[in-house]
Amino acid sequence: MPANSRFTRVPLFWVLYPCLSIFVVLAAGQSRQQAADKSAPSPSAASLESSKYVGAETCKSCHEDVYNAWEKTPHWKTTLDQKGGPSHQGCEGCHGPGADHVAGGGDKTKIYTFKDGSRQQTSARCLSCHGESHEQSHFAESGHSSSDVGCLDCHSPHHAKEEQHLLVQSQPQLCYGCHTAAKADFAKPFHHRVNEGLVQCNDCHNPHGTATLRQVRALPSGDAVCYKCHVDKQGPFVYEHVPVKTEGCGSCHTPHGSTNPRLLKVSLVNMLCLQCHTFSTQLTAGGPIGPGHNQSAKYQACTMCHTQIHGSNFSAVFFK
Ligand code: HEC
Ligand code: HEC
Ligand code: HEC
Ligand code: HEC
Ligand code: HEC
Ligand code: HEC
Ligand code: HEC
Ligand code: HEC
Ligand code: HEC
Ligand code: HEC
Repeated sequence: MPANSRFTRVPLFWVLYPCLSIFVVLAAGQSRQQAADKSAPSPSAASLESSKYVGAETCKSCHEDVYNAWEKTPHWKTTLDQKGGPSHQGCEGCHGPGADHVAGGGDKTKIYTFKDGSRQQTSARCLSCHGESHEQSHFAESGHSSSDVGCLDCHSPHHAKEEQHLLVQSQPQLCYGCHTAAKADFAKPFHHRVNEGLVQCNDCHNPHGTATLRQVRALPSGDAVCYKCHVDKQGPFVYEHVPVKTEGCGSCHTPHGSTNPRLLKVSLVNMLCLQCHTFSTQLTAGGPIGPGHNQSAKYQACTMCHTQIHGSNFSAVFFK
């Protein structure tokens, strides 16, 4: 019966799949179109719309202080880049066309202010320029976006407290404000020195989201981010310790902090090893072999002898 239904499902899937993908493409196109309708003019209305843009110099005439501060931020560069037209330049690149606002003598209801927008809306505005860039391209799938955290929870174009990256607060305090568990982890006796400024949250995470779980970064090669700094653990080794490659560093270490030396998940090294190297798994096919030697005290500090625990080029049992 299971085999049978698999046979009927497979062709059905291949019939449905193209239809489904067309539907997805159409739906995505449509919602993008709707988003575009709200924020930017459609091509046909472009000339009419472009007359609604007045340029940053006009804004400056009434908002001089804002302008002068803004001029020192990276967004000033948009005034030079004419590729996207006036809708992607200067103040109006974010606030939208300003002609009506100016004509109304500064009518607040005639300009986009960000104050009343939902996080999805304000983020969409930022993403109209930043959405294609490598770092932000996974924002829509991120835990942040799906939990209603938006660009402005971390950035402020006018009131940034951190000059670099227009952040509202510097790391890690910015992150600790919402991630109290992480704060507690990094306060443990053994930890990556994030609080000390040696390592940053964004070395391992992309706060804008990744294609991987937990917004953890991967190296361009697809390997674990840990190798970025711990190159010596990468190998390849003649004798690999299998879980390093198959289950990753997290099978033995906690990434943030730990009460155990070497950020180990358990306090006693032998208990860690014996989680996998039990005698019983010797019987189950595929499990790692248990230590043949006895379990007397002499053998409890496993890494005294098996020092090259991440892999070795000389010893199949990871001796020096
Ligand atoms: C990168 C997008 C962006 C650009 C470019 C931008 N703004 Fe803003 N503006 C915002 C956001 C977002 C807010 C809401 C407050 C905040 O988060 O800083 C805001 C708020 C304001 C406010 C409300 C008062 C305040 O200080 O919060 C004024 C006035 C303003 N902008 C004027 C301007 C002018 C004038 C320019 C051009 C010199 C400009 N903005 C360029 C995004 C932008
Ligand atoms: C003729 C003068 C004038 C010009 C030109 C002008 N504004 Fe304003 N703007 C005002 C006044 C006045 C206010 C209302 C300030 C208030 O009530 O606090 C205002 C308010 C705003 C606000 C809302 C601030 C808030 O507290 O909600 C934004 C955003 C803004 N202007 C952006 C712009 C942008 C972008 C431009 C250029 C496209 C521009 N302004 C050009 C006079 C002007
Ligand atoms: C009109 C296009 C445009 C829009 C809209 C826009 N940005 Fe930018 N943003 C830029 C450009 C261009 C740069 C400069 C990039 C560079 O320096 O290479 C930039 C730079 C930045 C930087 C980097 C600052 C640094 O020091 O590295 C941040 C953060 C940023 N933008 C956040 C935002 C946020 C938040 C919004 C929405 C409120 C937003 N941007 C909207 C075009 C835009
Ligand atoms: C949870 C906090 C957080 C959120 C939400 C967030 N950012 Fe960032 N962003 C950061 C931090 C931290 C940095 C600096 C470290 C780095 O480069 O990752 C940064 C850096 C940047 C930069 C400069 C580096 C680069 O990518 O070129 C840009 C541009 C940027 N953010 C845009 C955005 C936009 C647009 C959004 C909304 C779609 C957004 N950010 C949402 C925290 C955040
Ligand atoms: C040395 C790399 C590294 C650093 C630095 C780091 N993280 Fe992580 N973090 C990870 C890894 C790897 C995971 C995934 C753990 C898992 O899958 O169980 C993770 C998981 C998380 C999670 C998911 C919940 C959890 O605890 O498993 C959050 C939230 C988080 N990190 C926030 C932060 C914050 C905030 C900072 C900075 C204060 C930070 N991380 C610094 C590597 C790091
Ligand atoms: C405004 C609050 C807020 C800020 C600031 C914030 N986060 Fe988050 N973050 C959240 C929420 C809410 C979630 C989704 C729920 C969860 O997993 O905890 C989340 C999820 C995450 C996750 C993914 C966890 C998972 O289970 O997938 C990571 C990693 C993370 N944040 C890292 C960071 C880092 C790094 C910073 C600082 C640059 C930061 N966050 C700043 C609120 C915030
Ligand atoms: C940005 C660089 C960086 C990244 C990425 C990084 N580490 Fe580290 N790691 C360090 C530094 C620096 C130390 C030395 C810590 C110290 O002396 O405070 C360290 C120390 C360690 C230690 C030993 C702690 C001790 O007590 O000797 C372990 C275990 C570790 N890292 C595991 C990991 C794992 C697992 C990952 C991936 C989730 C990772 N690291 C990612 C920089 C990094
Ligand atoms: C099978 C369990 C296991 C796995 C998987 C593992 N480690 Fe370890 N690691 C250990 C043990 C045990 C120690 C302590 C060795 C000691 O006490 O001498 C250690 C120590 C370390 C140290 C500090 C001492 C040193 O050798 O530099 C670093 C850094 C480290 N590991 C990084 C990593 C990284 C990065 C990964 C993933 C690529 C990883 N580990 C995967 C078990 C493991
Ligand atoms: C997450 C599970 C896991 C942990 C934890 C673990 N190992 Fe392993 N280990 C394996 C697997 C899987 C193999 C490959 C077994 C095979 O190929 O038969 C292996 C292989 C070995 C080998 C080589 C055996 C041989 O015959 O080639 C030694 C030695 C070893 N581990 C020692 C240790 C020590 C010491 C520790 C503790 C520091 C440890 N392991 C922790 C899963 C683990
Ligand atoms: C006093 C040194 C020493 C200590 C401590 C030690 N081993 Fe070994 N281990 C050996 C020797 C010697 C071999 C056999 C090597 C060979 O046959 O080439 C071995 C072999 C192994 C093997 C491969 C299977 C086998 O029996 O041939 C595993 C797995 C292993 N040890 C795990 C452990 C674990 C887990 C611990 C900690 C509980 C540990 N060892 C502690 C010396 C030690």
